Amino acid sequence: MIKIAFFDAKEYDRAFFNAANDGRFQIEYLDTKLNHTTAQLAQGFEVVCAFVNDTLDSTVLQTLREGGVRVIAMRCAGFNNVDLSAAKALSLPVFRVPAYSPYAVAEHAVGMLLTLNRKLHKAYVRTKDFNFSLTGLLGFDLHGKTTGVIGTGKIGKAFISICKGFGMNVIAYDAYPDTRSDIKYVSLDTLFRDSDIISLHCPLTKETRHLINRDSISKMKKGVYIVNTSRGGLVETGALLLALDNKVGGACLDVYEEEAGLFYEDNSTRYIQDEVLSLLVTRPNVLITSHQGYFTEDALTAIAETTLDNIENYLQSGDMTNAIEYTAT
Ligand code: NAI
Repeated sequence: MIKIAFFDAKEYDRAFFNAANDGRFQIEYLDTKLNHTTAQLAQGFEVVCAFVNDTLDSTVLQTLREGGVRVIAMRCAGFNNVDLSAAKALSLPVFRVPAYSPYAVAEHAVGMLLTLNRKLHKAYVRTKDFNFSLTGLLGFDLHGKTTGVIGTGKIGKAFISICKGFGMNVIAYDAYPDTRSDIKYVSLDTLFRDSDIISLHCPLTKETRHLINRDSISKMKKGVYIVNTSRGGLVETGALLLALDNKVGGACLDVYEEEAGLFYEDNSTRYIQDEVLSLLVTRPNVLITSHQGYFTEDALTAIAETTLDNIENYLQSGDMTNAIEYTAT
């Protein structure tokens, strides 16, 4: 039976993958993340299954290949943590789950926006203590406000549709606009200038890294809300931190550029040395969640089924449908 080394396995991964596996593969769940020191654990396995905060650089991929790995199956949509050029050179196909539930992430983005704007997280804690004061809980109507959406793929479109349901004006920027849609595309500068809320739904690439930086923030409206449920590296966090004192009204962050090693783990009894994160956490106008946009039953079911189908279809018939294509830049 084909053996899968499943890195960074959590209890919920085991439950959903065991249900989807139905005896097809021998899955070895490893608690550890995949990195330079743990790559050797995959020796003797044909397949490695990895996630968003695993390291799949050229050294790790080389170790995996030498240990007999033939397939990399990412159980996520993003693949910015994989060196695709190295994988290609090593003849290691890399699969992903391009779509599982765009609604899960879009709904989480809207949930964060509503929570931070209307201070629901504070109200919840207050009323638990019989504190029924409204002081400090003032928000604004979303109706009639302008949302700027960067990246109008599956998640961006789901987010746009929810925003329209709220009666918001939507403008968008995409490097590859969907000309068949009725989305109102504008330039990035116009989006920065006119948006009350900016939500990021593009992938992390060389072009999009630190898209939100000191310069772009300077072009934004005072009081703008920034929502990032895409990848942490899209935002230059130091610049955002400074701007939260005056320019930026609120930041909803499901992802953080230095999240690897922190997110998905209980660090509540540890001293956190990441000063930027510590400062962000203390800001009243910041809401952080731990890369949980995808975390619904529907999405986890689809992720497990597609990941295992990708492996099975490739090994049985060479099907490359969900393989990530390497394009030289
Ligand atoms: P998608 O591939 O359907 O859409 C991405 C869109 O971004 C495309 O329309 C593409 O043309 C656009 N784009 C590419 N380069 C761009 C650029 N330089 N500037 C502006 N737009 C650009 O991807 P999908 O499924 O909508 O996912 C979007 C992102 O959401 C993923 O890349 C991933 O980073 C993130 N994600 C986060 C999750 C979470 O749990 N928080 C879960 C799943 C995805």
